[in-house]
Amino acid sequence: MDKMMVQKIKQLKEEKDVVILAHYYVDGEVQQIADYVGDSYYLSKIATKVKEKTILFCGVSFMGESAKILNPEKKVVMADEYADCPMAHMVTAERIAEVRAEYKDVAVVCYVNSTAEIKALSDVCVTSSNAIRVVQRIKEKNIFFIPDNNLGRYVAQKVPEKNFIFHDGFCHVHKGIEAAAVLEAKKSQPDALVLTHPECTMDVLELSDFVGSTSEIIDYATKSDHNKFIICTEMGVFFELMQKNPDKKFYSVGHRQFCPNMKRVTLDKVLEAMEKMEPELTLDADIMEKALIPLQKMLELAE
Ligand code: 13P
Ligand code: SF4
Repeated sequence: MDKMMVQKIKQLKEEKDVVILAHYYVDGEVQQIADYVGDSYYLSKIATKVKEKTILFCGVSFMGESAKILNPEKKVVMADEYADCPMAHMVTAERIAEVRAEYKDVAVVCYVNSTAEIKALSDVCVTSSNAIRVVQRIKEKNIFFIPDNNLGRYVAQKVPEKNFIFHDGFCHVHKGIEAAAVLEAKKSQPDALVLTHPECTMDVLELSDFVGSTSEIIDYATKSDHNKFIICTEMGVFFELMQKNPDKKFYSVGHRQFCPNMKRVTLDKVLEAMEKMEPELTLDADIMEKALIPLQKMLELAE
């Protein structure tokens, strides 16, 4: 890690009244200079509490957008403006309108990995760590779960009293974690527990000892008496897992556990963004107002 660069970032942070938020999938050296690191739910919650004038976001665009929508008066600067989650673009306004026309008693439940425009058309947002709780608390019987098919099916299993309409969105990183590779990893580490993100496919979830968000995976491994774990999510989580558990062993399931968008965020881009105070994230005022409603509903229902 470049000590000069870190020093400069810290100094500019003070001078310019900036708080740095980072997701667990960005590189460890970026996580290290952040003020807050967490999963999508934690980052949304913390964004409503920070006092600084500017939020510098180290993650993909839907995360920065949520921070902006929840804090329209704050400036949000993205460490990399092109870091974008492909899943966020996998559902259309037309499809939402079709489902709304077909079902009367329906709630559009939008995984936060979606654009602000899609959130603006939804009833409530969810993240991987609160989706089950939020869906259980929705009054509508029919749930149109967008855009992630895998997370939708996982939540449907846990909330059988609801009728789910699924969409066909997916995360290419988690879909790329194949059951055969997990079985292989289990064969070479038979006494390891398998910890998995719910964006993985059902056959991988069925091989898992625990399913949860990035933070929940880290908490589970940290509190567990076991000392070996096979990790089925993006490799960025290994940094915090190893920081918190230097005596435990963590195994990956292959080279595909890599989100190229999250990895666009580097320390030098953080420094450049801090120096220039750009690229600033801006959103249409009407979209922000409409997208705030499902995000706030999520924060209420998830408590
Ligand atoms: P978490 O909310 O679990 O951090 O997940 C975000 C994400 O993008 C998973 O791929
Ligand atoms: Fe999107 Fe998947 Fe990357 Fe998460 S890991 S940001 S869902 S592409």
